Amino acid sequence: MSLNRDISVLAARCFQSHLQRSIRIADPLTGSGILGLRYAAEINSMNSVFLNDIEPDAILFALYNILNNNLQDKIDIQCMDANIFLNLHSIPGKRLDLIDLDPYGSPVTYIDSALRALINGGFLAMTATDMAVLCGAKPRPCLRKYDGKPLRSEYSREVALRLLFGSLVKSACKQDMAITAKFSHSTDHYIRLFVNVNRSATEANNTLNEMGYILHCFHCLNRVILKDPEKRGRCSICNSSTALAGPLYLGKLTDSEFCLNMIASTNSLTKKSNRLSKILSLIKDEVEAPPTYYTVDSICHRLHRAPPSPNQVIEDLKSQGYYATKTHFDGGGFKTDATIKEITTLLNQLN
Ligand SMILES: C[S@@+](CC[C@H](N)C(=O)[O-])C[C@H]1O[C@@H](n2cnc3c(N)ncnc32)[C@H](O)[C@@H]1O
Ligand SMILES: [Zn+2]
Repeated sequence: MSLNRDISVLAARCFQSHLQRSIRIADPLTGSGILGLRYAAEINSMNSVFLNDIEPDAILFALYNILNNNLQDKIDIQCMDANIFLNLHSIPGKRLDLIDLDPYGSPVTYIDSALRALINGGFLAMTATDMAVLCGAKPRPCLRKYDGKPLRSEYSREVALRLLFGSLVKSACKQDMAITAKFSHSTDHYIRLFVNVNRSATEANNTLNEMGYILHCFHCLNRVILKDPEKRGRCSICNSSTALAGPLYLGKLTDSEFCLNMIASTNSLTKKSNRLSKILSLIKDEVEAPPTYYTVDSICHRLHRAPPSPNQVIEDLKSQGYYATKTHFDGGGFKTDATIKEITTLLNQLN
């Protein structure tokens, strides 16, 4: 998980340097404390870090790690349920600047408390590891937890991220709060997002406008963005029946400037991994891309032909005037504004 924590440290650094003051950070499901410890050790300025876990054994480990790293002046540690911990921070004067929800499985049971415990303009990070639920292997738990239908498709990891995002947007709207995406990624067995939270009913209305559905055709791989599920119909290309994913968030998943700041900040990490640089660079390139992606394999499987390299497909799409870029979601994937019909025509022209 060091890559995950590297990204978290970079995002937190960018948030703190934007505020230009010391900040109050909480890691309410801290485990061994390693993420909170890294926040305490690697973000500039004399910040306060609040660790919490429900397990006394975890607290003992975390305490040992705090002392071993000589971070006791910056860190406070408690042992209680995360929702109680967050609710104790929800009154003005006690609120936090940055909260990082890193549970096993889904973070949804902590979202309401975390929103209440943030200052206006605060920064919320969260992980979801329940990928079977979010990627469509278990649709009913997904409807229950995220209030949206998942989609078992080649781009299910992006749908997963957008479902988590959508669930967060809806929870925030209930408290007249607006969510602004700063950075998000899907890596290994988890998805993760970083957002700004503002107390504003007007802005909350605007984020609601970013909610919608994806209509998918399993026969020809066509996909269409829908705002109104009642407008759902058969596939506009092949007239097959379609599957609907959502409601989910359809807006940008990452802020371009924030991502560039994170990239600029990587040099100051003690160890800068190639994988970290590669993921950040891919995410920077796909910031402006439309929702959903294609994989060369899934299209070529349908066409009964050997797959060319994703790079070749991207270059050919670009040379024909389409937008096309790689995606961090899948090494064999690409994002484009070309339709599946146009992509198929292009692939049929390749040797
Ligand atoms: C995925 S681990 C945290 C990992 C840690 N952030 C890291 O980077 O290594 C989740 C932690 O949440 C704790 N936990 C589970 N339910 C909790 C609850 N209701 N309140 C507080 N902590 C809880 C578990 O004891 C576990 O240590
Ligand atoms: Zn179709």
